[in-house]
Amino acid sequence: MNLSRPLSRLAAAAVLTIGAATAHAQEGAQLNVICSVQAEWCNMIQTVFARTTGIKVNMSLKGSGEALAQLIAERANPKTDVWFGGTGDPHLQAAEQGLSLEYKSPALPQLHGWAQQQAQQSGWKTVGIYSGPLGFGYNPELLAKKKVAVPKTWADLLKPEYKGEIQVANPASSGTAYTMVATLVQLMGEDKAFEYMKGLHKNISQYTRSGTAPIKAVARGETSVSISFVHDGPGEKMQGFPVETITPADGTGAEIGSMSIIKGARNLEAAKRFYEWALTASAQEMGAAAKQFQLPSSKSAKVDPRVPDFKKIKFINYDYAKYGSSTERRRLIAKWEKDVNSLPR
Ligand code: F6P
Repeated sequence: MNLSRPLSRLAAAAVLTIGAATAHAQEGAQLNVICSVQAEWCNMIQTVFARTTGIKVNMSLKGSGEALAQLIAERANPKTDVWFGGTGDPHLQAAEQGLSLEYKSPALPQLHGWAQQQAQQSGWKTVGIYSGPLGFGYNPELLAKKKVAVPKTWADLLKPEYKGEIQVANPASSGTAYTMVATLVQLMGEDKAFEYMKGLHKNISQYTRSGTAPIKAVARGETSVSISFVHDGPGEKMQGFPVETITPADGTGAEIGSMSIIKGARNLEAAKRFYEWALTASAQEMGAAAKQFQLPSSKSAKVDPRVPDFKKIKFINYDYAKYGSSTERRRLIAKWEKDVNSLPR
């Protein structure tokens, strides 16, 4: 992957800070990683880990649901060693289906409780690497021009003035969108949540493949409102786009972005080395350096001021084990396809 100049400088600085302790070159060693965060962060960890260790990283970028689909498809002959990032639910599903390897990192006590809980719930087959709340992205300039108010609650999104103005991803390919489905079911109860999503469907202009596409569309003035992780807003704003975020006053869910080693990994030693490295504070701080503002799971990682303040957000008590189970995830996505996505708009 080619790196832009500022990114090269950041990567080089990161090598200097973390390199000394870990560097001993492993010439010829390789690692195959599926990366489910945004490209700039993927590029940065690819470069820094390779420069630090001498291990070449082959990186493929995939949304959370797509990554899981690939791992299922290559089950008999795994080509992936590590799956880095993406929402926790499909990582839990991968664990349950025996696609990921049990591995208990000695670094677990250095992680926040929610990240350790994710590891424990999976039988030590995945681990939390970051967290972030679900909410809405909006373009204040577009809303003002259309004389439409900023949505403050889930109920607001059903108002007729938002017709054709809202984008969200498709829950089959996107962990962000599946987090929305699971959040609404927990917030409203399943029947009401599906009635709600049928109403919301009328106001949706497009269901995108990737979870971050809707907030990018908002930032670029292609649509007024998105349902997105709010940590994906500041990076767009830093590029000069008019975009703000808000979390619904009636309650919302959060993701536990996760990482798993794949069972049958061909490059297991390199995979474990990457895994340990990715749990260090300095590696986790690369998220913010790459303009992505999830809360890091390492207790000693610096928290950038642009990371959403969890204390100010009304959260539901998200049941990660239940909504990460294969049967529940498959059932809810199939029901969404049949009862919501098939309806005319
Ligand atoms: O990289 C940004 C991000 O919002 C992550 O926090 C999240 O895990 C991932 O995207 C989800 O992507 P998708 O919805 O495409 O699976």
